[in-house]
Amino acid sequence: MNVYDSDRMTDLVNNNYSLVKTPEAADAILLNTCHIREKAAEKVYSEIGKYSDLKNSNKNLKIVVAGCVAQAEGKAMLHRQPLIDAIIGPQMYHKLPDILLNKLNDKKIFLDFEEEKKFKKIGAIRKKKAQISSFITIQEGCDKFCSFCVVPFTRGAEFSRNLEDIVQEANTLSDIGCREVILLGQNVNAYHGVNKNNIQISLAKLVMELEKIEKIDRISYTTSHPNDMTEELIELHATSKKLNPYLHLPVQSGSDVILKNMNRKYTAKDYLKIIDKIRKRVPDIAISSDFIVGFPGETKKDFNATLRLIEQVNFAQSYSFKYSKRIGTRASNIDCFITEQEKNERLQILQKILNNQKKQFNMSFLDKEVDVFFKGRAKKNNQFRGTTKWMQTAIFECDDERFGNKVRLKINNAFDNCLMGELV
Ligand code: 5AD
Ligand code: SF4
Repeated sequence: MNVYDSDRMTDLVNNNYSLVKTPEAADAILLNTCHIREKAAEKVYSEIGKYSDLKNSNKNLKIVVAGCVAQAEGKAMLHRQPLIDAIIGPQMYHKLPDILLNKLNDKKIFLDFEEEKKFKKIGAIRKKKAQISSFITIQEGCDKFCSFCVVPFTRGAEFSRNLEDIVQEANTLSDIGCREVILLGQNVNAYHGVNKNNIQISLAKLVMELEKIEKIDRISYTTSHPNDMTEELIELHATSKKLNPYLHLPVQSGSDVILKNMNRKYTAKDYLKIIDKIRKRVPDIAISSDFIVGFPGETKKDFNATLRLIEQVNFAQSYSFKYSKRIGTRASNIDCFITEQEKNERLQILQKILNNQKKQFNMSFLDKEVDVFFKGRAKKNNQFRGTTKWMQTAIFECDDERFGNKVRLKINNAFDNCLMGELV
């Protein structure tokens, strides 16, 4: 979502500013920040420290910090790092042009929750060619209050954009080259925006509307909560011609005790039931998840329950993290006796199994032909990369740069993080 937000902010100030390649060439430096784990949040300060000489030699240089670190730390951020000119929370990005043009009487702190005003301003503006695969934020914030998570505090309460605004944004994107939309929200399957008649629309209904846009070939959505995985949405996966066979459904843990303490409000069995249901309807679906190891109180037995769940599901994709204590969350009050070394060991064990599962999933594509959306250069000369509808990265060699096109590949090698193929 920060990628989407940064692009929108760039478009928003496009009349007065353009992107430059180095901080030395900049009149303004905008840092968009993440507060989800401590490591990400701390990076901001070390990054700004690097700009101290630039700021001293260019008195007009503005440093603005956007995103969830700004929202969470507020005024304290300005005290800790006086080089910052303004801080701007995730629901105030519409103020950015005025901040940069000094129209706000030196006001430095923008932390209100003005979601509606923000989307009215940032949603429709697209100044350049769209990526073949583009993000659209359809929902923001969260009311779930998982005990480890800062999102309800930093992004605010659940907010869903209006159906017509989203459809308009998708139409604009399709006119300028987009063929795949990835619908974003912290709790995207809880989407409940209204249409022009003020009737509430589910995520499944929204996807059905977006499918009508001829030039959009693929639709995906992320991130979902298991408790909002409706029958309607599962059914749509089976019937839709455009919805990608990919579901990112974070489980976080396989232990019912930990799930309860995380306030996730489902059991491991509930999660497995959902996976079973969707696999019955879409057998080849790629299931993806997030995991946290070392949540306060996680015993070896709890951790083993997570490993068991992983073995039962077989994930095609996954993201896993060591628990990070976040001030203000409920879990931060629970004493944690798990050592850093134990957390590291658990993460390693878990990731080894998950990486193996990813590889197995990718290996099942060997010798098959798949369509890939051409995304750009890969690391090596004359190598390019794209993505499949299962959201795998595919690497291939090619002489001409067919950016924006769909290519067909025959897969001849598979790893845990990508497929390799040749043009058909
Ligand atoms: N510590 C570790 N991981 C976290 N996540 C969210 N909060 C924390 C935290 N305090 C992870 C969850 C979530 C993903 C976006 O980040 O797995 O699904
Ligand atoms: Fe955070 Fe996701 Fe839980 Fe919401 S559902 S509180 S965004 S982990």
